[in-house]
This record gives sequence, structure tokens and C-alpha cells, in this order.
Amino acid sequence: KADDKVVKVGLIVPMSGPFASTGRQIDAAVKLYQKTHGDTVAGRKVQVILKDDTGVAPDATKRIAQELITRDKVDVLAGFGLTPLAFAAAPLATQAKKPMVVMAAATSVIVDRSPYIVRTSFTLPQATAPLAMWAAKEGIKTVITFVADYGPGIDAEKVFAKHFTEAGGEIIDNVRTPLMNPDYAPFLQRVKDAKPEAVFAFVPSGEGANLIKQFNERGLAQAGIRLICTGDVLDDDLMASIGEVSQGVVSSHHYSAAHDSAANKAYVEAFMRDNNGQRPNFMSVGGYDGMHLIYEALKKTNGDADGTKLLDAMKGMSWESVRGPVTIDPETRDIVQDIYIRKSDKVDGQMWNVEFDKVSQYKDPGI
Ligand code: DHB
Repeated sequence: KADDKVVKVGLIVPMSGPFASTGRQIDAAVKLYQKTHGDTVAGRKVQVILKDDTGVAPDATKRIAQELITRDKVDVLAGFGLTPLAFAAAPLATQAKKPMVVMAAATSVIVDRSPYIVRTSFTLPQATAPLAMWAAKEGIKTVITFVADYGPGIDAEKVFAKHFTEAGGEIIDNVRTPLMNPDYAPFLQRVKDAKPEAVFAFVPSGEGANLIKQFNERGLAQAGIRLICTGDVLDDDLMASIGEVSQGVVSSHHYSAAHDSAANKAYVEAFMRDNNGQRPNFMSVGGYDGMHLIYEALKKTNGDADGTKLLDAMKGMSWESVRGPVTIDPETRDIVQDIYIRKSDKVDGQMWNVEFDKVSQYKDPGI
């Protein structure tokens, strides 16, 4: 039964450390959602409790989640910037029977770690398979995969190889780079020496500018090696600093700030207005849609924030996101969405990821 108690959302994201851009984007989007939709839904005030887990210590994420559950008595856990951090909190969501809205982390298997997890971001297999099929269709014959050496990178490596080789392509090497403080130079030299037609790359959000800079400094583009990647490498908030060296790079993802819809134009404009002109990236959209999911679930339960009731209300929910149409698969609790093939291009003097093809309503294919 609805009462006048506040509904509390514990938002755990990296606001400092090497992955701080993820937390800043999600926090800004959550604030924008509440500014646009109000802080009250179904007669209940929604209070977001923001916690910085620094992004690098799963034990910290776990401790913070525990404190939010036992001390702050949150109704929903949300955020989770990287896969190891989502893994760390998952058992606590199960134990406490609280919905855990994963707004960022994107390794396929995350939703299996707790029946209380619902994901509003994407999965690496979901973003990668359509690009592998596109690359084969484009006539690319030889590829080296180049990924950050942890969950989402391994997902991307395996899924790219599976779909590309099934379509007749050949993987001539698999390169894995360290997650922390990566120096790409020796890995890029190894790729240059092997001379593939293309490199398929994944690095986590915030890292792409470094990779693309070194790709060009090392002369790979000049050697005729083409770069293709998931959209994680071409963060919208980094496109200005990456600059024209990304011209022509083809990538695949579930969101581009250039997505051509009235809702997205309004979103990008409002986000930039509130954040000193910084563009929203895909992490922000996971946060914005995560808040939407929580608000709509509360409407469906008439403000009842019981964890199991909220979770049931979230399952099967569909809406028109700024990324396009999305659905929470009622069986897997993962997000079903369009995956776009995009090309980095200059529009009105600025670099954008311009969508030119898509695979509609694509489910996580797994690995
Ligand atoms: C993950 C983190 C990222 O920054 C990203 O772009 C994709 C996946 C992760 O750790 O799951």
C-alpha cells in the first residue's frame, strides 16, 4: 500500500578515478530526469542517494551497497559502472530482494548473477555481433581483435570472432590490453606488423580518445589498416577531443547523440545546457532510462516500493527512449533495442557518430 514515505534509490557509480566520466554522465542524466519529470511519482517522493565507489575496487562497491541497504534502507540499487562492480553487488540485491538497475556495466552474463538485476545499458555481444556481420558484408577479410582484458572485452572478442568467421572472415590475432593504465603502443606495433585489413576494438568508456590518438601516432591508418569498433571507443563526450582523426571510423552501438529524433534532440540540448556544453554519451542514456524504468514501475504499483513488486513491474516494460524503442525482456531482464551502425563524420563543423544502418530490436545474443 502506498504511503507518504520517501522512495530511496541508492545510486553507486564511479565519480572519481579513471572511470569518473561514467559516473558523471549517469549522475547528470539522473538529475536531468528528475528535473524534467519532477521528484514525485505515484504520490511518492523519489530520493536519489549518490555514492562514489571510485570504479576500481569491487569490495568498496559491495560495502557501499550493504550500507545503502541496511542503514539508508534504499528501495532500489542503481548505477554500476563496470562489470566487476556489478558482480560484487549482485548477491546483496538477491539477499535483500531489492531491484538492482544496471545502468552501465555490459558483460552479457551480469543479468544471471541475480534475479533482481534489470539492465538499461546494453551488452557487448549485442553491440558487437551486428558490426561483425557488417564488416564481412563490407568485404573485409582479415581482422585483429583488440580489447580491454576483462569481462566486456572478452565478450566483444569472442562474439566478433564468432560472427565474422561464420560470415567467411578470418581473425589473425587476438590482442588484449590491460584495463588499468594501458599503454597501447606495444600492442599497436604488434598489429601493425601483422597487417590485417582492419582492427576491431573495444575499450571502456573514457578510454577511446587515448586509443585513437595512439592508433594514428603509430601510423596504423597510414599503413592502410582500418579501425572499426564498438561505440564505447567513440564516446560522444570525447568526440571533440578525438577530432578529425576519427573521420570515417565505422562503429556499432545502441546510442549516438546524433540519433535523429525529436526526443533525442531535446535530450541532447537539455543535457548540454545543464553540463557546460558537454555532450551526453551512451552512459548517460543508461542512467536516464534507468530512472524512467523506476518511475514507470512505481506508477504500475501505485507507489508500492516492495522490491519484488517493483521488479515484476519492470519486467516486460517498453518505452520510447532517446536511443529509440526499447523493451526489458521479461525472461532475461536485459534490454532489447536497435543496434545502429554509425560512421564518424563532420556535421556543422563538429564530429558526430552518424547512424546509417541498424538491426532492429536486437536481443543479447550471448557469447
Ligand atoms: C563496461 C564498462 C564500460 O565503460 C563500457 O563502455 C562497457 C562495459 C563494463 O565494465 O561492463
